Amino acid sequence: MMQRYSLTAIILHWAIAALLAFQISVGWALESLGARGFSLYQLHKSVGITILLLTFVRIVVRFYKPRPAKLERGWQGALALWVHVGLYAFMLGAPLTGWALVSTAKVKVPTLIFGLIPLPHLPLPASVHGLAENSHGLIAWLGIALFLLHVAGALRHHVLMGDGLIYRMIPGRSRVLLFVLPALILVAFAVGRMIVPAAAPDAAATAPAADEDEAAPIDNATNAAVPEQAANATTNTAEAETETPVGPPPAWSVQPGGKIGFAVGNDGDTISGSFSRWTADIVMDPDHPDSATITVSIDMTSASVGDAYKDGMLPGDEFFGVAAHPTATFKATGAQQTAPGRYRADGTLTLKGISKPQRISFTLSGTGKTRSISGTARVTRALFGVGNGDSSTSLAPSVAVTFAFKAKQK
Ligand code: HEM
Ligand code: HEM
Repeated sequence: MMQRYSLTAIILHWAIAALLAFQISVGWALESLGARGFSLYQLHKSVGITILLLTFVRIVVRFYKPRPAKLERGWQGALALWVHVGLYAFMLGAPLTGWALVSTAKVKVPTLIFGLIPLPHLPLPASVHGLAENSHGLIAWLGIALFLLHVAGALRHHVLMGDGLIYRMIPGRSRVLLFVLPALILVAFAVGRMIVPAAAPDAAATAPAADEDEAAPIDNATNAAVPEQAANATTNTAEAETETPVGPPPAWSVQPGGKIGFAVGNDGDTISGSFSRWTADIVMDPDHPDSATITVSIDMTSASVGDAYKDGMLPGDEFFGVAAHPTATFKATGAQQTAPGRYRADGTLTLKGISKPQRISFTLSGTGKTRSISGTARVTRALFGVGNGDSSTSLAPSVAVTFAFKAKQK
């Protein structure tokens, strides 16, 4: 009887193959798009990380589900095996080099996987950027070469040797699926081509006055004003099917005079204070907050509640433990708009060496290059071991942190 791969292995085989074809087709278009392709970059990165995860699942399945016996010994068997090893290396190497290249880029664009899950940057030195970028492009070509060898081998068996090998990767010996599943690879490649916004010269033709980087927004403005024009121009229709391309989000520098304060109830009373030294790195497009990155570092030795006795206690281990943990940081990738001008960011607060999820809410006011930001966060101090001693028993469990500052677009 004909042995077959498990259904899980078969589904993963064809899903990964099709997604890889999509990736290569989109990847080749990315560089020429630059900032216009922001949402396409996000998609390429999201699908790439999906491939990485599916490949992990596939490798695990490979160890748990029995595979059909090898058909050939000798050099042909060895070649088939090495091509398979190479294909696995391609499935892992392509996403990992992609991830490495975005993690080491000079301008760090945050990645939100399918607009939902922030992808952390790999802790790699900037010096590997060039290598990662070159390998990422090269590995795609190696993958294509291996794919051709792999298909040639499969066809040799299936057709020349007449052993129906390809059915080992087809559910239920279905003749229809024998054609449909390999065709998915072509379809995925074609879909990748189709969703790429029209190349820059075409865009320039529909929006003559625009320079390359601004072509997309201006195009969209024209589309909105003159919808029938979009229906006529094929280049514009292709673009309308994708998300609106957005440039990378702008960076902001915090202006002097800002304030981060905190307040906590204490036995019917309130103790309030502030930090005099802190910095913030903010990259955010208020109209597209999902791509924001916010990093705030607070010098914990700069805390004061305006009372010499209590200020003397804050640095100690019962409260901030500044000797071991002089800085606290808040990091968030991605924010959500909750109402006009109001936002929320779910990030991570690291305080006293302990990292926990933390939400901040803030409002933005003003327009143009200078904006005012003010907001709040509720910090559950016990999570971070702040106030873990005898003098803290009357302190309320939640500390209100407030901030207000002005930021200027860089
Ligand atoms: C999983 C399979 C993947 C494949 C097959 C793939 C394939 C490609 C290809 C063929 C290119 C064009 C390279 C060139 O023109 O030199 C490209 C570009 C790119 N890929 Fe991927 N990619 C994958 C995953 C990823 C992932 C996971 C990320 C990031 C998290 C990523 C980020 C990028 C970036 C940023 C570019 C533009 C490169 C540049 O500006 O030089 N890719 N990809
Ligand atoms: C038309 C395209 C394709 C056909 C007809 C095809 C066919 C097959 C067949 C018949 C097998 C089983 C070989 C055996 O039983 O010894 C197989 C295994 C495999 N294929 Fe494909 N394949 C195609 C595309 C791809 C692509 C694009 C990849 C890229 C990742 C890929 C990766 C693999 C791997 C890694 C295995 C080994 C599975 C294992 O034993 O762990 N294939 N393929």
